Amino acid sequence: MSPLTAHPSPAFGGTATVPGDKSISHRALILAALAEGTSRISGLLDADDVKATRAAVEAFGARIEEDGADLLVTGCPWRSPAVPIDCGNSGTSARLLMGAAARFEGLTARFVGDASLSRRPMRRVVTPLTRMGARFEGGDTLPLTLHGARLGGIDYESPVASAQIKSAILLAGLGTDAPVRVSEPRASRDHSEVMLAQFGADGTLEPMEDGAQAVALGQSRKLRACEVVVPRDPSSAAFAWGAAAMIPGAKVRVAGVLVNATRTGFLEALEQMGADVRIERERTQSGEPVADVTVAHRRLDPLRLEAATIPALIDEIPVLACVAAMADGESVFEGVNELRHKESDRIGSTAAGLVANVVHAMPEDDRLTIFGRGRVRGGGTVTTHHDHRIAMAFLTLGLAAERAVGVDDTTPIATSFPDFREMMTRLGARFEEAG
Ligand code: S3P
Repeated sequence: MSPLTAHPSPAFGGTATVPGDKSISHRALILAALAEGTSRISGLLDADDVKATRAAVEAFGARIEEDGADLLVTGCPWRSPAVPIDCGNSGTSARLLMGAAARFEGLTARFVGDASLSRRPMRRVVTPLTRMGARFEGGDTLPLTLHGARLGGIDYESPVASAQIKSAILLAGLGTDAPVRVSEPRASRDHSEVMLAQFGADGTLEPMEDGAQAVALGQSRKLRACEVVVPRDPSSAAFAWGAAAMIPGAKVRVAGVLVNATRTGFLEALEQMGADVRIERERTQSGEPVADVTVAHRRLDPLRLEAATIPALIDEIPVLACVAAMADGESVFEGVNELRHKESDRIGSTAAGLVANVVHAMPEDDRLTIFGRGRVRGGGTVTTHHDHRIAMAFLTLGLAAERAVGVDDTTPIATSFPDFREMMTRLGARFEEAG
């Protein structure tokens, strides 16, 4: 355990450098490890979750060399790893790697994870992959053993909008010529689809009624090596932007950050609350839209989030709840039940963190209501439940609250954003180690 306290930091702002996008980093390693030839990856996130995926693809047989700050990844047909695939805390590693490995006949791999990941639901990928022909030993959670097989096609109706489920099916589908289609009730992040196209595979997107959509693989399913430049992660930038939105006079700019529409929900929410959000110099990098984004403080109005908007800000809910606590009035986030299956039960841990800092918050099964009073008293210590985004969200709140906010453990921050403390300190954040 490594506790930390965030103190009110009225002089906050500047230009922030955030690391590579976590979702795109996982996909770059996995697709390069499956492709024919050597791919160059630059800007990869250097954090524990992505290290787990890197070690896994090496265990499956891919060769990785470092060339300065870039990685050169040579793909191959995957083989049984000599050691269990340890996904650590990373749900994306577990679910995407199971999908990618499922199509190698004769491959056997045991997937394990830390205590938090070993509680998270895996049936959601085991069910469709089994339907395609893969075999699993184990139950609904890790550890699980996968036996790869020659796979057939699938037309799968996913009950949840989850990019991890969709990606697992698409990656498995690369190994068959049969039709592979997956529909989801709302559009989840589409980085797998974008990157599959970069590596030479094709697919189609079918919009359906009420915001639902389906993705189908095309005929071209052979991956060829390419160059990937990973855009900067908007889910990490969200802490600096969130602090800028909450602290009077603050303004933070992040350059070269991903602005894919399936990920910009947080910026849209800040804008709806009245923050000043500027998106400039939009351009494309490895098929993904990136831009320079500046957020500046304004007086904040409460926020009403509909269920349909949740996938585009699924990882930003804890920090957005902290921003909503600084607004004057009642904010309601609808359709948040999926948050209960993240690194912690994020509805429970977010509400408890707010209450510890004298904010009235009401968690219900599928809804979170925050009764903002235009200021947050603070002074509490938050239990992070080994969840990186809970730790970072409440350290961010502490910069804007009237009194310091503590978190009981900062070690999980290394899973996604090891330089969080340095980046926020450079912007003016005041942190203090306990004791
Ligand atoms: C991710 C998808 C999301 C997100 C996670 C990363 C991905 O999960 O919460 O942090 O890279 O595909 P779900 O797809 O399960 O909602």
